[in-house]
Amino acid sequence: MKSSVKKSAFFSALALASVLLAGCSGPARHRIVRIGHNQSTSHPTHIALTAFQDFINENLGENFTVEVYPSELLGSQTDMVQLTQTGAIDFCIASNAILETFGRNYEIFNLPYLFVNADAYHLSMDDPAVTGPIFSSTEKAGFTAVTWLDAGTRNFYTVKKPIESPADLKGLKIRVQQSPTNIEMMRLLGGSATPMGFGEVYTALQSNIIDGAENNEMALTDNGHGDVCKYYSYDMHQMVPDILIGNLAFLEGLDEEERAVFEEGFRLVNQVQRREWVKAVEAAKEKAATQQQVQFLYPDQAPFVAACMPLHQSVLQGNPALQPIYDAVQGYNKQCQP
Ligand code: GCU
Repeated sequence: MKSSVKKSAFFSALALASVLLAGCSGPARHRIVRIGHNQSTSHPTHIALTAFQDFINENLGENFTVEVYPSELLGSQTDMVQLTQTGAIDFCIASNAILETFGRNYEIFNLPYLFVNADAYHLSMDDPAVTGPIFSSTEKAGFTAVTWLDAGTRNFYTVKKPIESPADLKGLKIRVQQSPTNIEMMRLLGGSATPMGFGEVYTALQSNIIDGAENNEMALTDNGHGDVCKYYSYDMHQMVPDILIGNLAFLEGLDEEERAVFEEGFRLVNQVQRREWVKAVEAAKEKAATQQQVQFLYPDQAPFVAACMPLHQSVLQGNPALQPIYDAVQGYNKQCQP
């Protein structure tokens, strides 16, 4: 949402509603559960959260009503993580990249070329031994991760100049997510990193403030970036998951039975989103190629990989606690090696 006036009006209404609800609450509580995200209502993320909303409303409707706020209605991902931290809202979806600034351990899943392919990525993210220590690492900060969502593979796309090797990035301003690892990745690849929130990227591309960005194929169609950027290069530098995070006090306040239903709901989010994701990416590629005339390029990945690899060592040296998790991911990489 662009207008801060509209946003502050929303939060005043939210505060008023909370006061009114608190005033009405008798022994049988009824709780509105608010979830924010930054995607459109046709995006797999929203479809999955709607399934969660229906599931909770059906199974725990007497005590809870889930409301889903799409399209940055509650602010950028950084804003929404802060709102989840304080309990102003209960859940939000944030890119793993954003979470790195709230909990350093998240930097591991932002490493470029961490996973050899989608199978290794999925197996790693489905293994609680890999995700558990990361997901619980922000409890002191007031929130915890409850499941992950597939956000595909990130690739470079540009307005004017096709990217066929890292050398082509030289001198280009490329939007990256607001994460130190992403900024360092761009430095190693030779481009000029321009961190900004997702909602600002379209206008920045259109007005030539940036020369390009990097994201999955859905950004071309669902966010209109393919209207401006006509070259999409499959260098496949990252598989950065999206993470559903929840306010810790809210989760700890659930009784055993409620918690079990919520846990089932979190699994549903993951399953529905992953099923929808496969279809959505196929449709996005088709639309980008045929309706937006985006040209898909398949550069040799080796020079991109070579440029990024020093980042693995520097992140592990800076945070040795990540080593066992990194090693577990390498185990999946070996298993999935083509
Ligand atoms: C993807 C991802 C979002 C993220 C966005 C971005 O769309 O799913 O969570 O916000 O990339 O680049 O910021």
